[in-house]
Amino acid sequence: MKYALIGCGRIATNHIKAALNNRLEIAAVCDSKPEAMETLLAKHSLEGDPSIHRYTDYRQLLTAEKPTLISIATESGLHAQIALDCIDAGINVIIEKPMAMSMDDAEEIIRRSQAKGVKVSACHQNRFNIAVQETRKALEAGRFGKLSHGSIHVRWNRNRDYYTQAPWRGTWAQDGGCLMNQCIHGIDLLRWMLGDQVEEVYGATRQQFHDYLECEDAGMAVVKFKNGAIGTIEGTTNVYPKNLEETLYLFGQSGTVKLGGTSTNNIDVWDFSDADSSDDANRGLQEATSNVYGNGHTSLFADMIAAIEQDRAPYVDAIAGRNALEMVLAIYQSAFTGKPVKLPLQHTASTDFTGLFSHS
Ligand SMILES: NC(=O)c1ccc[n+]([C@@H]2O[C@H](COP(=O)([O-])OP(=O)(O)OC[C@H]3O[C@@H](n4cnc5c(N)ncnc54)[C@H](O)[C@@H]3O)[C@@H](O)[C@H]2O)c1
Repeated sequence: MKYALIGCGRIATNHIKAALNNRLEIAAVCDSKPEAMETLLAKHSLEGDPSIHRYTDYRQLLTAEKPTLISIATESGLHAQIALDCIDAGINVIIEKPMAMSMDDAEEIIRRSQAKGVKVSACHQNRFNIAVQETRKALEAGRFGKLSHGSIHVRWNRNRDYYTQAPWRGTWAQDGGCLMNQCIHGIDLLRWMLGDQVEEVYGATRQQFHDYLECEDAGMAVVKFKNGAIGTIEGTTNVYPKNLEETLYLFGQSGTVKLGGTSTNNIDVWDFSDADSSDDANRGLQEATSNVYGNGHTSLFADMIAAIEQDRAPYVDAIAGRNALEMVLAIYQSAFTGKPVKLPLQHTASTDFTGLFSHS
């Protein structure tokens, strides 16, 4: 399957690895900075491959290459426009998280991809972590019984070096703060596991230590789900001195699970009332990962390829991308107004919150 990548920065290496692992034909890469393409290709010993074409303008790539699948890994504020151009060109697309920065853009991606018959996958790759998949299987089999509550804790560290590497980070238009960037995977997992249908969100955000950014570096929220479950969210990039954990707790009447590690890649607690010997393998399960981005890109790409070939929806579709974005924007809106926010959200955009922290 003919594939191209738009955006060749920090996360792009996971996309190239996923493309190689899935034997995609890498037809082209695109970056507005030519040196970013060369660095990325060299990292994978692909710099001398004449079949990989380079573009600094993605629109030229779309017209000249017409790949079957494109993945977008530019700064977040550019995702929606590039995705819509891909969709209009009839190209299936994997969009890095967050899928868009506004509800209008997210809805438009869903609407236009459905109208065009084009597949869109939102890159929430942690859904493919072994620990997460095992939890989901138990949930779908009804092993938790009635759900009581759950929580996600993303306690990471990002320092000034990380933010100064790319000036778009921590801005309202291009990135958002720690909830939109670092915590959105965990927020996606919490919403997905606790029933997807959210009634109300109450949130508070702060900018504690990163006063050179526009957005938050710590945020908390309480979420009421329509099925009666409740959830809490805690996300930050302020943890001294390094990433501590990304931990998901789920509590049901007949089951308790705690996923830990730095990115919900381990199973720390696995207790079910109907447990038998088949549960032994899950207790203490640890999936080795080389960084907090995990191993999920390869599985997410594999699923998207199968979705295209079998003409079915991808496992993590555009609605999942919309829902994760909506949760973060709801927390932002609640923090901005000081009031709980009812879902669904309409017409809300990250830029609505410009100025929330006084110096921005
Ligand atoms: N799924 C994950 O776990 C994960 C992890 C990290 C980052 N991300 C997401 O991936 C995206 C990229 O993050 P990053 O840290 O790799 O950023 P980065 O700044 O390192 O890379 C972005 C690249 O996009 C290029 N670019 C900018 N405008 C472009 C355009 N118009 N056309 C082509 N290329 C363009 C930049 O030159 C840069 O090389 C962000 O949306 C981020 O939220 C996802």
